[in-house]
Amino acid sequence: MKIPLMKPYLPGTISKEIQKVLDSGFLTEGRTTRKFEESISEFLRAKYVLAVCNCTAGIEIALRAIGVGPGDQVIVPDFTYPATANAALITGASVTLVDVNPHTMLIDHKDLEAAITDNTRAVLPVSLFGNPLDFEFLLRLKERYGFYIIEDAACSLGAMYGGRHVGTLADITVFSLHPRKLITTGEGGLITTNDRVLAKWMDSYRHFGMEPDCADHRRLFNSIGGNYKLSNVQAAIGLAQMTDIEKLLKERAALAKRYKAMIAPISGVSLPRETDNAFHSYQTFVVFVEQRERVMQILRRQGIEAQIGSYSLHTQPAFKREARCNWKGTLSGSLYAYQHSLALPLYNGMTRKEQESVVNALKEAVTC
Ligand SMILES: Cc1ncc(COP(=O)(O)O)c(C=O)c1O
Repeated sequence: MKIPLMKPYLPGTISKEIQKVLDSGFLTEGRTTRKFEESISEFLRAKYVLAVCNCTAGIEIALRAIGVGPGDQVIVPDFTYPATANAALITGASVTLVDVNPHTMLIDHKDLEAAITDNTRAVLPVSLFGNPLDFEFLLRLKERYGFYIIEDAACSLGAMYGGRHVGTLADITVFSLHPRKLITTGEGGLITTNDRVLAKWMDSYRHFGMEPDCADHRRLFNSIGGNYKLSNVQAAIGLAQMTDIEKLLKERAALAKRYKAMIAPISGVSLPRETDNAFHSYQTFVVFVEQRERVMQILRRQGIEAQIGSYSLHTQPAFKREARCNWKGTLSGSLYAYQHSLALPLYNGMTRKEQESVVNALKEAVTC
């Protein structure tokens, strides 16, 4: 593709950080993982940060930490990557899929409230594409009904709501470090929380059930856990990128602003609504178009790697078949987003000329 959907930001300093790990001979999780976690914690101002092998596992760990299992209900927006609902179903819980607002693609407030039952243990909403959830609403609802908020912020590192970073607002937030994300370690994830007890439980769970903070020679296994660690080698990649995170976010905001100015006058293309009182981190830049498949194919034929926004889970065979997965009504907001959302190329280092080529091709595709 002449203009790819994304290009990970991989500064030269990464090889130096990796070389340090190789020189130490300590390739599994260790000091570099701790340094990476500290840099994230400092950036977000989150008390506890746990690096894990990926975001999907991180969501599963977060749900297990609050005791989610068979008999519990977890509420998930229908428009998201399947990983969100999968992580909840893997715990043995039931999932209720609810609609999203067709303008924001974020969980629909009315549908969410209507889906709450006595069995609702967790709401698992998604801060999507870098656009954060409306936490004023979510926290009010949490207070009324008493559920946990486990936020899937796979795409939203760097986003803010009400002057606070995503990662400090929910009971537990989980980010992805996949290469399409702002900061990447290849595969990887980050769990954040301000709750000491939950953090301690999750720390143990990601280390085979080992008691945290016990000396190496006196390991104590107090519970059953898995191996969900992020290695020093992976952490070295993320650590090198963290030095530039503010610069990367500023650049993405400027690229998005330019896209919006160029796209606004094009009839046949509309822009999603952004959350008020928030900072969008623009992991993905999405527009809505009619005949999305046709437009996407035209762009691709010109070497522009456009992509669908995300999935409407209730249309997917796995969720249709799953007895523990349910929903009511047509979920029309999610279907709209699934059929009309189009992700355009956006990456750090993208030039004005590249953006103009994307927009010109888009304009031609929607008018022809
Ligand atoms: C909303 C959402 N949740 C979860 C995931 C899964 O992330 P990971 O690949 O790190 O497991 C993704 C992947 O992009 C995602 O978009």
